[in-house]
Amino acid sequence: MNTLTIDIRKAEPRDASAIADVHQEAWHGAYSGIIPHRTLTSMINRRGVDWWANAIRKAATVLVVEIGGTIAGYATIGKNRARELRQQGEIYELYLRPEYQGIGLGSRLFKAAKNRLSDHGLRGLVVWALEDNHNALAFYAGNGGRDVAEGVEVFEQKALKKVAFVWND
Ligand SMILES: CC(C)(COP(=O)(O)OP(=O)(O)OC[C@H]1O[C@@H](n2cnc3c(N)ncnc32)[C@H](O)[C@@H]1OP(=O)(O)O)[C@@H](O)C(=O)NCCC(=O)NCCS
Repeated sequence: MNTLTIDIRKAEPRDASAIADVHQEAWHGAYSGIIPHRTLTSMINRRGVDWWANAIRKAATVLVVEIGGTIAGYATIGKNRARELRQQGEIYELYLRPEYQGIGLGSRLFKAAKNRLSDHGLRGLVVWALEDNHNALAFYAGNGGRDVAEGVEVFEQKALKKVAFVWND
């Protein structure tokens, strides 16, 4: 029997190319048919290897989940950006390669992200998901989130509703 090691850790610059790949595949899978094609393509193209290398070095914390040496997903985390919500931490993004979805890795990555935010002294957590992303809504509700607020994102004149899930300490 082969044993696969699952490791969740902070991303390093050498992970940039794999994360750019995950980002591209996961965003195509999650948002094709929801976000207009042209906008989605340009959002994906903006986030190439250099963008990710820079993000890992400077910007928000990027976590990766690695399984048997493959980067299967990433999460970006930091301070909550929505002033109307009192939770201090936020998971900005949490994405897995399509072939690694539905086997529990998302839940593990979510818990690791949540723990890391609270280790940094940030109390409570917010995640936003597009209302049309039914898998994400089921995932966050299944992981104990309460949907407390709504917002709107406009993509190429198409307005899409988004939902905020929160967890309190
Ligand atoms: C959403 C996502 C992060 C979930 O991670 P995952 O590893 O696939 O989910 P898990 O296997 O840990 O599942 C945990 C729970 O989430 C829910 N869930 C996950 N995938 C689901 C799906 N396709 N449909 C319905 N519910 C789903 C279930 O309630 C599941 O509970 P169960 O184990 O009792 O069935 C992952 O599927 C993903 O990256 N999707 C595409 C990108 C995305 O939408 N990211 C979120 C953007 S806000």
